Amino acid sequence: MRAIRRTISETEALDRAPQPRPDKIGARTEKFAHHWDRLIERWSREFGSSFVEDYAFAGTERHRVLHRRVYDGRIEVTEHRIRVHNLPESFCGLRIVQLSDIHHGLFLPFHAVLDAVELANRLQPDVIALTGDFVTYSRAYIEPVAAILGTLRARHGVFAVLGNHDFRVGAEGVARALRHEGIEVLRNRHTIIRHGGHTLPIAGIDDLWYSADLPRALRGIRADSATVLLSHNPQIIRRAAYYRVSLVLSGHTHGGQVRLPFAGSIFGRSPERMRFKSGWDRLGPTQIYVSRGIGTVVLPVRVRCPAEIPHLHLQPHDSDRSLPHRPGSEN
Ligand SMILES: [Fe+2]
Repeated sequence: MRAIRRTISETEALDRAPQPRPDKIGARTEKFAHHWDRLIERWSREFGSSFVEDYAFAGTERHRVLHRRVYDGRIEVTEHRIRVHNLPESFCGLRIVQLSDIHHGLFLPFHAVLDAVELANRLQPDVIALTGDFVTYSRAYIEPVAAILGTLRARHGVFAVLGNHDFRVGAEGVARALRHEGIEVLRNRHTIIRHGGHTLPIAGIDDLWYSADLPRALRGIRADSATVLLSHNPQIIRRAAYYRVSLVLSGHTHGGQVRLPFAGSIFGRSPERMRFKSGWDRLGPTQIYVSRGIGTVVLPVRVRCPAEIPHLHLQPHDSDRSLPHRPGSEN
């Protein structure tokens, strides 16, 4: 909060400094941007949000510099220890960093994506999971966002699944651009990571509203194997529990995005979306982590719901015992 207050005072200092005289249209735009900034600033103070302030500073080049300076503070890196049944010994302590719902576009500019990627790389993770919605409405942002994500680094690899917005914009195009940057896109299939003589399957499915096929993604994985599943939509949890997936990583909900005092969140209010909307939960043998994500939709704001990079530390389960076989698996 201190960093944000300092930023505001710096903005005011810059406002008082002599400015080049803008032309007529430029002056009106500048005036509008100024009022808009003040409005968002006041709103954010009212509701205790700080992410909205990032956008208040995103309007002009001068503000972009300030926005960049405070951005790291605006993405919350959340740390979680997750105990997984049958986790192979070599993967005890495996660290997964999740980036979800980037929504690169007008609401989340290039440098903001870059900041999120830098923050993720600084954690030096073993695995990076990208859980969909890389873009929102426009194809124009596919290659730029893929290019930035191509700079992500993780010991065992960077894996991605597609979200509903990616399908709307062009699933093939998004998948191709990510693959071109060395990111493994899991479309109803799994991959195996290997370490110290042990293996850990990482499965991924297409978006639930489009062509998700969980049995196909899990085909060939041993029934007693710990499995991580990437699914953009957390509503896969019931099916994942049926197939005894160990851990699901999801996004899609943006954590509600705008959480008003007393009224609750504006997004994700339907009963089936109230649960599994944000954070850790479990259903039967399956644990899930739902990230609040990075970007926004509909409105370029977050209120009391900051952007999030989950940093998950996998640990063996204390009372490990063999679970019943996964339906349809090999053994
Ligand atoms: Fe999204």
